[in-house]
Amino acid sequence: MKKIVILTGAGISAESGLKTFRDSDGLWEGYNIEDVATPEAWRRNPVLVQQFYNERRKSVIEAQPNAAHYALAKLEEKYDVTIITQNIDDLHERGGSTNVVHLHGIITRSQSSKDSTLTYPIDGWEIKMDETCELGSPLRAHVVWFGEDVPMIETAARICQQADVFILIGSSLAVYPAAGLVNYVPRHVPKYIVDPKIPQMSGNSTFIKIEEKASVGVPSLVTDLLGH
Ligand code: APR
Repeated sequence: MKKIVILTGAGISAESGLKTFRDSDGLWEGYNIEDVATPEAWRRNPVLVQQFYNERRKSVIEAQPNAAHYALAKLEEKYDVTIITQNIDDLHERGGSTNVVHLHGIITRSQSSKDSTLTYPIDGWEIKMDETCELGSPLRAHVVWFGEDVPMIETAARICQQADVFILIGSSLAVYPAAGLVNYVPRHVPKYIVDPKIPQMSGNSTFIKIEEKASVGVPSLVTDLLGH
């Protein structure tokens, strides 16, 4: 089976009601990133950070996958599909995709604040401040904060090198190392981009541009790729 590799960003979840990053004038749901999404923020004010991610998790649980998520799941009928997402929501999984690599973690799981490889399911939408991991340290959202390593980046790069088809959906490619993944896709491989505002990037001339929002552009591209 041909391998399709799909790199998604916040734009694919925009129509599910989850805000993108760069459309929100530098704030994330009204918070400064450095106050809620860095290790320093956690050291300075863990309660605020925990509350921020509990609020985000509630929105994710209330959100529904949209036509783009469902269409990507259909691709699995005919292709060996890997989704590499920068998103911390679980909408790809709830849309039916079975092979999702979360570069920046996933908000529906918690992790030990002492050992990031210890992760746990979350019962409901909030992590309480008195909940601890098996090492006795407080639990935090299983997400990659700014300034932290992206443990899945090497895996993701290798997956991009194996692509027979590459699709970029809803990412401004503003944040590295995720943005650098595009350079691992072999030159001869067909590359598509779906975004209502095609971002500037080196080599974007080689992309087949679908200047549409995801809920329109992705289903039509999937129909073409499935050949019906
Ligand atoms: N359909 C498709 N794309 C859309 C839609 C839509 N309905 N609405 C917006 N977009 C596009 C925007 O044009 C933009 O190119 O989605 C992209 C969103 O870009 P960002 O907000 O920068 O999100 P993303 O690229 O995922 O950010 C990467 O930055 O803040 C960090 O860790 C965070 O994972 C995030 C990373």
